[in-house]
Amino acid sequence: MLFLEDSQLTKIRSTNRCDSPHGISSYFVPISDVWAAKVYEFKCDRDNHFDKQEKAAEYGLGPEVGCKFEFGEGYGKKYCYITEIVEVRPRQRKGCDSYSTEYDACKQAQVEFAQKINPLLDDLVDELQDKIDFEFKDIHNNNVGFKNGKLVCIDFGDES
Ligand SMILES: Nc1ncnc2c1ncn2[C@@H]1O[C@H](COP(=O)(O)OP(=O)(O)O)[C@@H](O)[C@H]1O
Ligand SMILES: [Mg+2]
Repeated sequence: MLFLEDSQLTKIRSTNRCDSPHGISSYFVPISDVWAAKVYEFKCDRDNHFDKQEKAAEYGLGPEVGCKFEFGEGYGKKYCYITEIVEVRPRQRKGCDSYSTEYDACKQAQVEFAQKINPLLDDLVDELQDKIDFEFKDIHNNNVGFKNGKLVCIDFGDES
C-alpha cells in the first residue's frame, strides 16, 4: 500500500492511542480490511521498527509494510507506517462486562491463541536471528500473530 486516501488519513488523525490496541511505543489504527497504520511518538522508533519489519516480511517472518508518513506539528507530531493486518491475540471489547458470556468466550479464545503459538515460538525466534539478525527479546502473546497460518513477529522493538 503506497498511497493513503484522505478519509484514511482523517481516521488515523482522529483516533486516540487509548481507544486503540497499543503497547509502549506505538498504537494501531486499521484503515481497511488488510492495512493499518502504526503510530509512534518518536521518529527513531518508527524508522527502526519499519526497517526490521520490512526485512522480516521478505522472509515471511513479519507483516508486509507500506509507506511511511507523518502528521501533526511540534510536540504533537506523530510518525507512522502502514502495516499489513495479521491475526492477533483476541482482545476484550472495551467496556465488556467481566461476568458476561462474551467475556468468557474471549478469555477462552485467548487461551487457545496461547496454546497455538507456544510450540511455534522457539522456531520464530531462531529464524528471526538467523535470517535478519534480529534478536526478538520482547516475546509475548501480544507481539506475535498469524499470517496465512504462519507465526510472525509484529513488534520489532529492542525492549526486553
Ligand atoms: N500487524 C498487525 N496486525 C494486527 N494487529 C497489530 C499489528 N501490529 C500491531 N498490532 C496491534 O497493536 C498492538 C501494539 O503493537 P506493537 O507493535 O506491539 O506496539 P508496541 O511496540 O508499542 O508494543 C499489538 O499488541 C496488536 O494488538
Ligand atoms: Mg508490543
